[in-house]
Amino acid sequence: MNILVTGGAGYIGSHTCIELVKAGYNIIVADNFVNSCMEAVNRTRKLCGINFPFVEIDFTDYEATDQLFDKYNIDTVMHFAGLKAVGESCKIPVEYYKNNLDSALSLLLAMKKHNVKNFIFSSSATVYGADAPIPYNESTPVSRCASSPYGNTKLMIEYILKDAVKAIPGFNAVLLRYFNPVGAHESGEIGEDPTGIPNNLMPYVAKVAVGKLDMIHIFGNDYDTPDGTCLRDYIHVVDLAKGHVAAINKIKEDCGLFVCNLGTGKGTSVLEMVKAFSKSCGKELPYEFAARRTGDLPAFWADPSYAKEQLGWVAKKGIQEMCDDVWHWQSKNPNGYSN
Ligand code: NAD
Ligand code: UFG
Repeated sequence: MNILVTGGAGYIGSHTCIELVKAGYNIIVADNFVNSCMEAVNRTRKLCGINFPFVEIDFTDYEATDQLFDKYNIDTVMHFAGLKAVGESCKIPVEYYKNNLDSALSLLLAMKKHNVKNFIFSSSATVYGADAPIPYNESTPVSRCASSPYGNTKLMIEYILKDAVKAIPGFNAVLLRYFNPVGAHESGEIGEDPTGIPNNLMPYVAKVAVGKLDMIHIFGNDYDTPDGTCLRDYIHVVDLAKGHVAAINKIKEDCGLFVCNLGTGKGTSVLEMVKAFSKSCGKELPYEFAARRTGDLPAFWADPSYAKEQLGWVAKKGIQEMCDDVWHWQSKNPNGYSN
């Protein structure tokens, strides 16, 4: 099977390329580097042990997308490409809608023209409503409106894919709802490399550990949780990548629409993450409590039982391994890919 990996130079896409090649799939990797760089592709090629084709392309450009499908014989699209910063999406919502929706639509139109019928989509736990009971399972209703424009792009693309499955005979759409991906490849060669000051917890903590930032700010310690800080379902990016390989078997079964959480089923607090990371890097990391961050939910995690039942997939790596691998990557590459 030939798989087009859009956004394959990015954090989750690059780790997934490695697992896809390991599993024997042919990959065509494509990205416009809006949030990544060629060095990530070079390193991923090395880790894969093959010089897979790479195409620099902006998927909002329909003509270019169509030409890519002319050039390569593609069976399945694994769609990681997208803008993903929640805070930024509130500041420039229109750009987020344009990038994320236009990319998905270009791909779907080109797929239709070239009779490609398999789509695996990077969705998010953010599609579940703020009032959804915990743990989230796949029959938990999605929110009518997500808490950010970014989240709304995920909801809207989910709706588009659901309609495509209804209308296009033989069309398969797998919607994978990720929880909180962290960690890095065990080699320390690839990992998460956000530009500027990280918004997410793990990359921020890693930058404090490597001396690039002074202090961790923990947003809120008065939540109704065991230690007062928020709980999230952190999942190792390599486990997440393997979840994508497992999802291909659903495509092979001609699943039509298939929706699945990819999480561990365990909530971990911000304080527990900071302590685990301190252990990984061998020093107590400085932190202070700060005001709650607008829009944060106190706690959520996945019910992962459907993924186990349907995909035979279970996340295996624990919190300490996630932190160890982030530290390995960050300490080996204090400036990320721009060493
Ligand atoms: P990332 O930013 O590292 O990777 C996304 C890649 O897409 C980047 O390399 C970027 O350059 C590329 N891209 C963006 N717009 C593009 C366009 N128009 N054309 C071509 N390439 C484009 O992000 P990630 O963490 O690897 O996330 C991958 C996917 O998973 C995204 O769709 C994201 O929304 C989703 N997701 C991520 C998380 C998370 O916490 N990391 C959680 C849930 C869902
Ligand atoms: N946090 C801090 N300090 C920081 C950064 C984060 O205390 O400097 C806290 C947050 O308040 C939250 C927890 O750490 O309680 C996790 O925050 P992240 O920003 O790392 O992750 P979120 O759960 O807010 O959101 C992430 C992605 C979303 C995705 C969601 C899915 O950013 O895109 O996971 O579960 F939708």
